[in-house]
Order: sequence, then structure tokens, then C-alpha cells
Amino acid sequence: MITTNTLLASFLRTRSDTEEICAPLQIEDYVIQPIVYVSPPKWHMGHTTWFFEEFILSKYVKGYKRFHPEYAFVFNSYYESIGKRVMRTNRGNLSRPTVQEVYEYRDHITSCMKTFLEEDLDTDIIKLVLIGIHHEKQHQELLLTDIKFILGTNPLFPKYNDTFTENFVQSKISGYTKIKKGLYSVGYIGNQFCYDNELGAHDVFLQEYSISNKLVTNKEYLEFIEDGGYKNSMFWHAEAWDWILNNGVEAPLYWHKVDEQFWQYTFQGLKPLDTSAQVNHISYYEAFAFAQWKGERLPTEFEWEVAQSFFDWGTRWEWTESAYAPYPNYKKAIGALGEYNGKFMVNQKVLRGGSVATAANHTRPTYRNFFHPELRWQFTGIRLVKEN
Ligand SMILES: [Fe+2]
Repeated sequence: MITTNTLLASFLRTRSDTEEICAPLQIEDYVIQPIVYVSPPKWHMGHTTWFFEEFILSKYVKGYKRFHPEYAFVFNSYYESIGKRVMRTNRGNLSRPTVQEVYEYRDHITSCMKTFLEEDLDTDIIKLVLIGIHHEKQHQELLLTDIKFILGTNPLFPKYNDTFTENFVQSKISGYTKIKKGLYSVGYIGNQFCYDNELGAHDVFLQEYSISNKLVTNKEYLEFIEDGGYKNSMFWHAEAWDWILNNGVEAPLYWHKVDEQFWQYTFQGLKPLDTSAQVNHISYYEAFAFAQWKGERLPTEFEWEVAQSFFDWGTRWEWTESAYAPYPNYKKAIGALGEYNGKFMVNQKVLRGGSVATAANHTRPTYRNFFHPELRWQFTGIRLVKEN
């Protein structure tokens, strides 16, 4: 188990990392919510702060007085058992608290937590603090993807900064890695932090399969588009086809056609499409349709986990064919934190890996991310599998 000194350092680093992500923003960027699933950066900063106040300070610091009596209403995300809250669709309608007040809230809670973490803590409290830290790291990724959406759907295509690298050169090893059929163990075993949805390690039987060493590139995806991929219903699920027609989708998110050439919004503004980079910002629907076009398929989350040691991962979240469901013996935590993962195990697809927006030391081979199949504002990509 982690030592108290390491815990304090990790907490402080995580808090300052969040503020560093927001440093390039203008004040107006902090407030808007252009679509329901994109929260204003100001809200993320307040919500991650409220998490420590709600689950730790107000429970374990004797005589603790909340920073503001209404902030639980403003910054509670989805915890029904904690109480009423601002509707998700209204997060972008709040001009108060101001950005400055949210920064003051952050400073206050960081300082109270620092004092708290200097005490001797029992194991259960350390586990709670770790959840708070990893919760904030999850929101750091959401902050980056939400900031990209806020800036990238603005007609001026403003840049975020000059340094954020969205594309990495892929592994040089092309081709596929063959995995023999057999019984394999999946799920987390160890004594470091993991989420409850990774516990319940168990055996799965896999048929032989071959998994691609590389992620699909923009060049390959462009071939799919040019071959009429978005116009042929045979590649798409029924609800995906409705989604294509209802939304006029004909390319990944942030792709724009200028003089018959595709450009792509990046954190550095609008740029010509980098055809050698991994395809990015696609929905599960699109990942599936691409695989159909190619005559291959997406891996299940267990095929991905068993094979992950053979390929580089971590620059894109990778869509899998698996529905997000509990592992055997899955148990929700007691109390409000039982709402963290379990109640989302319906109608979502699992993503594996990590992305350029994922915080350091946050992901691992057993980590299970999950989103609805139409969503594509995360840094998502495609790895293919073929049957042998
Ligand atoms: Fe949250």
C-alpha cells in the first residue's frame, strides 16, 4: 500500500496538473457547455474539488465546515444518494460561482486536504483518497477532450497551445500477432489502485485469433470514406445508420473538407490531415463499420487484454466489441461511491488502453473505459482482429 508521503505528493501533483491543463484557457472558455456531454471546465474544477470535500473532509474531519452550503448542489454530478443537483444540461448556464470563486474553492480544499493527509490515516481512508485522486485524473482527460470540443466546434478554430502532441509514431512492427486458443486470466490482480469494475479476475476461453500490431491510420480510414463507406448501409448497425442519416455524418469528428482536401482540428488549430497518424475521434459505430468494410472485426475486451503485451498502446482509446458488464462476483462499494461504476453497466461499449489525454499513471492493461456507441469526442481509435 502507498505511503502517506507518496499519497500527499500524488494528491498535490494531481491538483496542480488540473490547473495546468486549464492555464491556456480564456475566461469565457471555462463557462460554456456546447453539448450535453461536454461539461464546462469551470464545472470540472469545482466537481473534482467537491469530491474531496463530500467524501473525505465532511466525513473524516471533526467539525469541518463546508466552504459554501450550495456547492454540493452545483457540483454533484450523478450521485442520487447524496441529493439534488443542477441538471447536467444546465451546467453551462451558470455564470456563478465565478471562475475566480472556483479557484478559491480549489485552493481552500487543497489546503484542508494537505493538512488532513499529514495525519496518520487508516487503510480505508487511504483507499478513499486514492479514488479521489484517480477520479480527478479521469476528469483531467475529460477536461482535455471537453476543451478540444469547446475550441474545435468554434468557427474560429482557436488553438489551445503549441505543445500538446496528439499523434505519436506507431510501433514499427506491422502485421498481426497470433494468439493461440486457450484459457486465459483477465481482470486485476495486485495491490495497487484499480477500480472496482476491474476486480473479480477470472478465466476466459478464447478461440485462436490474430490482432493487429498497429492502430488504423487516417490514410486507411480515408480509403474507407473514398470507397463510399459512409454511404453503404451494409457496413452499419441499424441504429448506426439512423445516426448517420440523422446527423449527416460523413467523416470523423473534427474533419473538415477544404477545397476537396480533408483538414483536421487539433489543439494547434486547423491542420491538413496527417495521413500517417492513427485515426481519431470515431464512434463505436464507425469503428465497427470500418472493420466490416475491411472484412475483419473489433477485438473483444478480453482478446485485447490477453494480447496487449504484444503491441504499443496508450495513444488512443480502442473500441472493443464488448458490452460494459460486471465481472463475476462484482460488488458495488457500500454507500454513494457504489454509484461510481456499477450503475453505468448498460448500453455502453468498453474501450481499452489509454490516450494522449490520459493522465500519467492512470491506466493499465486491465483498465475498462466505457462510452455510449455514438460518442466520439474522446481520443478513440481502431485496432482490428481477424479470425485465423
Ligand atoms: Fe466525476
